[in-house]
Amino acid sequence: LSSIRLRAVEESDVAFFFAHMQDQEAQYQAAFVAEDPANRDAHNAHWARIMADENVINRTILLDEVVVGHVAKFVMFEHAEITYWIDRAYWGKGIATAALRQFLDEYRPRPIHATVAWDNAGSLRVLEKCGFVPNGRGMGYANARGEEIEEIYLILDD
Ligand SMILES: CC(C)(COP(=O)(O)OP(=O)(O)OC[C@H]1O[C@@H](n2cnc3c(N)ncnc32)[C@H](O)[C@@H]1OP(=O)(O)O)[C@@H](O)C(=O)NCCC(=O)NCCS
Repeated sequence: LSSIRLRAVEESDVAFFFAHMQDQEAQYQAAFVAEDPANRDAHNAHWARIMADENVINRTILLDEVVVGHVAKFVMFEHAEITYWIDRAYWGKGIATAALRQFLDEYRPRPIHATVAWDNAGSLRVLEKCGFVPNGRGMGYANARGEEIEEIYLILDD
């Protein structure tokens, strides 16, 4: 694998994240996406908000210095929660796993939670490889599916 590196998100990365999130297959897989992922103003406003939020840690994922995705920790229901997205052009190369491992080395507090659509096999595998274990199931409204779907909760304790 070529070099994977994380760094703080820079304003110019946000347009790359927007492009990554326009992919319909990726949206369907992730399921829990923004109400209108094609709304660039909403995307920019969201990133301005989370980049200014001290409870959020955002990292840009670079593959040989190319912006290929992002990984972030945010707070949901008073839990630390993890999220990530890789440009579909770069799927299946171990990038999400390597990036999440680096993020978890840098960000040490535990536990960390994750919420994944029941059928998001790729994300479930990434989390499992990084030590997360399932600890519950629930229902959540998935904007990309237009309905409530089952979600799997996972936790990393150490
Ligand atoms: C989920 C996602 C981050 C995976 O990224 P990636 O860089 O392709 O993942 P990796 O290459 O590190 O793959 C890790 C493992 O998952 C497996 N995997 C990846 N995609 C898969 C899929 N669609 N179905 C089944 N397994 C899959 C890989 O084979 C690998 O397993 P292995 O090491 O046992 O062979 C990427 O598909 C993505 O960004 N999807 C859209 C956004 C999303 O779903 N984010 C997560 C929200 S919770």
